[in-house]
Amino acid sequence: MSTLHGYRAQLLHFPVITSAPDKDCQHYRDGLLVTRNGKIEAIGDANQLLPKYPDLTVSHFPDGLLVPGFIDAHVHFPQTEMIASYGEQLLEWLQNYTFPTELKFADPDYSSAIADVFLRQLFRHGTTSALVYATVHKVATDALFQAAQAKNMLLVGGKVCMDRNSPEALQDTAASAQRDSAALIEQWHGNDRLYYALTPRFAPTSSEAQLAALGELAQSFPDVFIQTHLSENPNEIQWVKSLFPQHQHYLDVYDHYHMVRPRAVFGHCLHLAQSEWQRLSDSGATIAFCPTSNLFLGSGLFNLDKARDMGVHVALATDVGAGTSFSMLKTAGEAYKVCQLQHQRLCPLQGLYDMTMGSAAGLGLNDKIGNLNPGTDADFVILEPRYDELLAMRICTDAAPTDMLFALSMLGDDRAIRGTWIAGQNVYQKQGIEE
Ligand code: GUN
Ligand code: ZN
Repeated sequence: MSTLHGYRAQLLHFPVITSAPDKDCQHYRDGLLVTRNGKIEAIGDANQLLPKYPDLTVSHFPDGLLVPGFIDAHVHFPQTEMIASYGEQLLEWLQNYTFPTELKFADPDYSSAIADVFLRQLFRHGTTSALVYATVHKVATDALFQAAQAKNMLLVGGKVCMDRNSPEALQDTAASAQRDSAALIEQWHGNDRLYYALTPRFAPTSSEAQLAALGELAQSFPDVFIQTHLSENPNEIQWVKSLFPQHQHYLDVYDHYHMVRPRAVFGHCLHLAQSEWQRLSDSGATIAFCPTSNLFLGSGLFNLDKARDMGVHVALATDVGAGTSFSMLKTAGEAYKVCQLQHQRLCPLQGLYDMTMGSAAGLGLNDKIGNLNPGTDADFVILEPRYDELLAMRICTDAAPTDMLFALSMLGDDRAIRGTWIAGQNVYQKQGIEE
């Protein structure tokens, strides 16, 4: 039996790929989104669309703003419990906090429990899709995919690969990384809404042999994602230079092993040489811009204008646990401040674009997620912009969407999320609200 449902609210999304999101957004002040069997069937003005669906059951959110579900393009699920760990920059932070925490994920039951917490955090912040690092453990990666599959979520995930410069109990080998990654691709890539990402942690923790083994997989599976870190911290960059003296620059290490291409997502990219910018642009790869993480670890300021000038895809991301919030709204707010520090300007609709359509387009997923076009999956969020005394004062009832989004990016948190839907199913509803 087909299930048809209507959601009446203010609607906002970007139906096309654009470099001018403020011009190319679609906005209905009194809109209707019609879903059928987990997909979007129609979008339009409520008064025009309602007569076409005389028997439609409609949920009405008169104060709600319905937007596509947010995409978090770089996040570490095992680091959920160590978010906000004090005092270090990248390499010390990895040693003191990250590696000890990730050791716990050899246990499949522990992994499943944390995967559930992680997904609940995503949903309560309006995030419906993410590119997720597991740990080196295959069982932890399975646990993540199983949890996401139970929610029918579009999730891209990968087992971390590292065979040096890390605790022995967290190391795999070139051969086991290739074998386990291939088995995970076989089991999960294209299984329901799940996709696999080859995940070398970063160049310093992989031997040349391991990078070569993963490069072979990259060539065998051209539509598989790739995720790793690039040029985050000055000490890290020096270290890469000393470990890979024969390579022209940091990106060249990955490039040599066939890992710079469309659907490759490089976290951070704060201190790039011009030739690295050029290669990222030419290759069709994506940069994950992680402002709360970059500020928290004192890593540096991402040059967003440069990325735009060079035509490199950019996707916003939290990078929890170095990132300090699961909220993509807050992440857009911190991105704005990173731009301010460089006398650049990030407009609020650009922020929304970079966590929805822009992100999906960079990843080649915009036929499924990132917008509210008919035929795409019904992943969406209903925001409640005026959710408390302060926001009700700051945002007037007839505010333009751009002002609403800006105020929410500066002031909002999970209380701004009225509800979250994945493939037409409600996966989160703000407490204290009866349907
Ligand atoms: N570089 C290598 N591993 C990590 C990680 O887990 N988090 C961040 N932010 N950077 C990294
Ligand atoms: Zn990261």
